[in-house]
Amino acid sequence: MKKILITGASGFVGRAFVARWLYDCTLLIPTHGELDITDEYSVDGYMMAHTPDVVLHLAALSNTWYCQQHPDESFLVNVVGSENVARAAARYGAKFIFFSSDQVYNGNKECGPLSEDVPVYPVNHYGCHKLEAEQRIAAVSPNAVILRASWMYDAPQQGTAMHADFVNNILRAVEEERPLSMPVREYRGITWLRDVVENLPHTFSLQGGVYNFGSGNSVNSYETACCFYEMLYGGDASRIILPDYERYPVHERNLSMDNDKIFRASGGSVCFPSTIDGLRLFVEMTSVAR
Ligand SMILES: NC(=O)c1ccc[n+]([C@@H]2O[C@H](COP(=O)([O-])OP(=O)(O)OC[C@H]3O[C@@H](n4cnc5c(N)ncnc54)[C@H](OP(=O)(O)O)[C@@H]3O)[C@@H](O)[C@H]2O)c1
Repeated sequence: MKKILITGASGFVGRAFVARWLYDCTLLIPTHGELDITDEYSVDGYMMAHTPDVVLHLAALSNTWYCQQHPDESFLVNVVGSENVARAAARYGAKFIFFSSDQVYNGNKECGPLSEDVPVYPVNHYGCHKLEAEQRIAAVSPNAVILRASWMYDAPQQGTAMHADFVNNILRAVEEERPLSMPVREYRGITWLRDVVENLPHTFSLQGGVYNFGSGNSVNSYETACCFYEMLYGGDASRIILPDYERYPVHERNLSMDNDKIFRASGGSVCFPSTIDGLRLFVEMTSVAR
């Protein structure tokens, strides 16, 4: 059984990973208080004491808005903290898995699914810090697997605060009968957390490098929302989902990722449905629509 250290295990992705794989691996899940990733010595000491086989590094400041307001804190956690964990993992021989973000593509002007080898142009602090973390991690640990994740969603969980994700934003708008504007000039993959969690163990044996990691989506965000509404409620979405033609006036925002590299590198083990197919499965397999 592999021994896996998870940083950020109490977060959105970490909780789901732990719940799914608890009985298949030995999981080390220190709390933020027990292992603060910004404390280099504490990170090194923890790694030396526990010698995990894999480090799944999920600890982060993941709210882009918060990072924009608190750039120094974002830099400390998302860049310095990530580098601390990567360096210690390399020192004690653990495979390092890092969650980067599709936000590194935020300023790209190309259309269509973006591959890992296009030059990237992040525009906000969060995206810039993720990119800098990727570069520092690759320098200290060439064997590290860097996963550019897209926006993830899951069914609302009892007992936890409602996560601000695509699904919950729409469910909330419907519940409150409040129209929701969705950009027509935006393309982005939106990925069911279940697919991320199922695919993750297959990334542990990948060669070091950067990989797009999430569902592709060729449908714009407004159409994606309408489709999801219709899957849920059957009727006409136009009462709740409104097209926003104004956002991203200069060029379309395109965060849509091509996930062919990871599919091939994993021999087909890492595989994501398209965003629309993922949403359809989500509606069929969960109770959100009932
Ligand atoms: N959620 C998404 O849609 C999405 C999309 C793309 C990429 N990502 C990336 O995927 C990763 C996981 O995201 P997530 O949504 O699970 O994040 P999350 O829900 O915000 O959880 C972040 C976790 O990091 C911990 N943490 C924060 N600062 C820490 C520190 N200094 N030391 C140790 N632990 C610390 C938090 O613990 P406390 O709460 O106790 O502070 C929490 O457990 C992140 O790298 C995120 O940037 C997420």
